[in-house]
Amino acid sequence: MKTMRGAILPGNSTVELKQFPIPYPEHGEVLIKMKSSTICGSDIRCIYHEHLGKGPEGYQKGMIAGHEPAGQIVECGPGCRRFKTGDRVIIYHISGCGLCNDCRRGYMISCTSEKYRRAYGWQRDGGMAEYMLAEEKDLVFLPEPLTYSDGAQVACGFGTVYEGLEKIGICGNDAVLVTGLGPVGLAAAMLARAMGASRIYGIEVLDERIAIAQKMNLFDAVFKAGPDNVAQIRSLTGGHGVERSVDCSANDKARLTCIQAARKWGKIVFIGEGGTCSFQPSPDIIHDQKTIYGSWVTNIWRMEELVERLVRWNIHPETLITHRFPLDRVSEAYALMASGKCGKVAVVFDEELK
Ligand SMILES: NC(=O)c1ccc[n+]([C@@H]2O[C@H](COP(=O)([O-])OP(=O)(O)OC[C@H]3O[C@@H](n4cnc5c(N)ncnc54)[C@H](O)[C@@H]3O)[C@@H](O)[C@H]2O)c1
Ligand SMILES: [Zn+2]
Ligand SMILES: [Zn+2]
Repeated sequence: MKTMRGAILPGNSTVELKQFPIPYPEHGEVLIKMKSSTICGSDIRCIYHEHLGKGPEGYQKGMIAGHEPAGQIVECGPGCRRFKTGDRVIIYHISGCGLCNDCRRGYMISCTSEKYRRAYGWQRDGGMAEYMLAEEKDLVFLPEPLTYSDGAQVACGFGTVYEGLEKIGICGNDAVLVTGLGPVGLAAAMLARAMGASRIYGIEVLDERIAIAQKMNLFDAVFKAGPDNVAQIRSLTGGHGVERSVDCSANDKARLTCIQAARKWGKIVFIGEGGTCSFQPSPDIIHDQKTIYGSWVTNIWRMEELVERLVRWNIHPETLITHRFPLDRVSEAYALMASGKCGKVAVVFDEELK
């Protein structure tokens, strides 16, 4: 039996590289040679330090980690209808039943089937391995101008951000505030700019991340998180606040800043997960006619649409990657992402090792 290496997360801030059999594609499945597999903040929050998640965020012990995978199909099982050997693909990271109402809307993230809903890197093997088995219905075609490391980030981070921004709507009228400048916050700035936002402001607590955000030149201004943030944002927006704000921090105070730094009729989207949020409904929301949206991942048609737009806009998510590691150094990759002293962190293979 041929074997491959794959990384599992025991839940004590370590990574174990183990040997696994190379899987065989059954009906409707494909075998993918992994090319790029990026790390999401959720991997650190729910799995790496300890196994915190429940239900859809519950990591099953011993699963190969990684829910941001992109690679090339090396073998198709019988019954595949669209994709073929050699195709470059992104894997929408949740496999759903395909038949419940949420799956029919393309939101397999919200699939209601306890039996068939399984997320790659959580309840079924993910991308931190040399090969990965996926269902053909979970694939999104990755066109040539985009690299595999561009594609990997679409699988969760960029897909999630695009969905959140589409929910609140972004155009050239808008000043946009982003709180939490991890990879998701940086993606929010990159996509908001491409969608036309005329001013983009960022708030972050870690100095290393403030420096990275400034170096990447994605924001008009970046502030250190603190009690003056609302006043700082208002002073840049004629005293009114931003039209749109996006929380990518999951921090209670940053969420409140998103709400209070938004002007009347403003729209706010919460993307950062976990934690809590306290605000006073009347002054903070009701009297200023504001709307707060929640947004969880995206649907598969929007992911396809995002890939098309990335090509049209000529932007590359991989520019957010500050560190690339080969699979045998996967432990360093997770430790670095957990430290926060980085932009996006990727585990890469073959031509993506550069
Ligand atoms: N909604 C979804 O579908 C979805 C999908 C993917 C990721 N997420 C979540 O999005 C969040 C961001 O993901 P990431 O990969 O960038 O994670 P991350 O943990 O690297 O980034 C979060 C950033 O927020 C910063 N932060 C903390 N407190 C802050 C404060 N008071 N003000 C400003 N910034 C503050 C942190 O320093 C960090 O840089 C995570 O919570 C992740 O779980 C949600
Ligand atoms: Zn994720
Ligand atoms: Zn379903």
